[in-house]
Amino acid sequence: MHISPFSILLSLPHLLTLVSAAANPIGPNPNSKRGLVYVPSKDHPEDDNIWIQSGSPLTWYYNYESKPSPRLEGGPTKLQFVPMLWGDYDNTFVQDVKGLVDQGYDIEYVLGFNEPDISANEGTGGSGIAPEAAAARWKESIEPLAEMGIKLGAPSVTGAPSGLEWLKAFFAACESCTFDFVPLHWYGNFDGVASHLGTYSAAFPNMTFWLTEFALAHEDVAPSQEFFNLTMEYFDRLDNVGRYSWFGSFRSDVSNVGPNSALLNQDGGLTYIGAWYLNKNENEAASITGKGSSDASVLGVSAIKSFGVTVFVAVLVSWIL
Ligand SMILES: *[C@@H]1O[C@H](CO)[C@@H](O)[C@H](O)[C@H]1NC(C)=O
Ligand SMILES: *[C@@H]1O[C@H](CO)[C@@H](O)[C@H](O)[C@H]1NC(C)=O
Repeated sequence: MHISPFSILLSLPHLLTLVSAAANPIGPNPNSKRGLVYVPSKDHPEDDNIWIQSGSPLTWYYNYESKPSPRLEGGPTKLQFVPMLWGDYDNTFVQDVKGLVDQGYDIEYVLGFNEPDISANEGTGGSGIAPEAAAARWKESIEPLAEMGIKLGAPSVTGAPSGLEWLKAFFAACESCTFDFVPLHWYGNFDGVASHLGTYSAAFPNMTFWLTEFALAHEDVAPSQEFFNLTMEYFDRLDNVGRYSWFGSFRSDVSNVGPNSALLNQDGGLTYIGAWYLNKNENEAASITGKGSSDASVLGVSAIKSFGVTVFVAVLVSWIL
């Protein structure tokens, strides 16, 4: 049978899809737990394409806001949006979420307040709410969503011991409230986060936890990568970890947790952990960027460099000849 070289060319995109789907260094693809804590870049909006390229294992995202981020909504990979009510202020959270559901968004979960146990005045990202005030706001602005079948994530406290005290006081003040899972933040080493999860599991038996911010901040490359690998394996394996999102999804030169925790390098290419987070081989890391409008330019150029494609194409060519 005669097969023209042209038909080989035609089948290449299909091959690339097959091979890139097979190159999964870490975890399943797609990964129902793995998501994105979205920190957009004003200077480099094109970086967003990287998270939603086809074959991305990511399945969900949050952006600390009640409304989705348009730049993450149009990609080949669809991420489920998880709205958050960040702090204690007048809001239209319930209406916003209902509006999204009416528009056809798959809103399965929402998140409560962000780091309410630390002050909003210190520039640290805390929303600084007293447990009683948080309970009152919860009843008014979050609890009504439970009636719609939406699952509610408790306020995400910091990893400090005072975070647990805050959460216990909040649960006591919000006794009749619904909590389906508890989001946690952690900045520290692996033993620390494992022990942190143990503490919370003991305090709240049978609860599901989400790790919505975590990293080994301001460390060297080797311990950062080791921490990354250990946490991925651990969180993928544990039944009481519902979801997780690594911090963070930004370039190394603007990272506030040190350059070695960033998923992107200073040029917008993936770092090694960025590649692993997206189930890609580190050899193709830096060449995968969000630049270029077509998905093929994101995946194709990098994938063709990978060992797997070379072998696959070589086998195919020898079979044809
Ligand atoms: C946890 O769940 C198990 C199995 O469903 C149940 O037997 C146990 O009573 C629960 N424990 C608590 C403290 O809710
Ligand atoms: C982390 O995992 C990647 C991908 O599986 C592997 O290539 C790398 O050697 C691992 N590094 C450490 C320190 O475990």
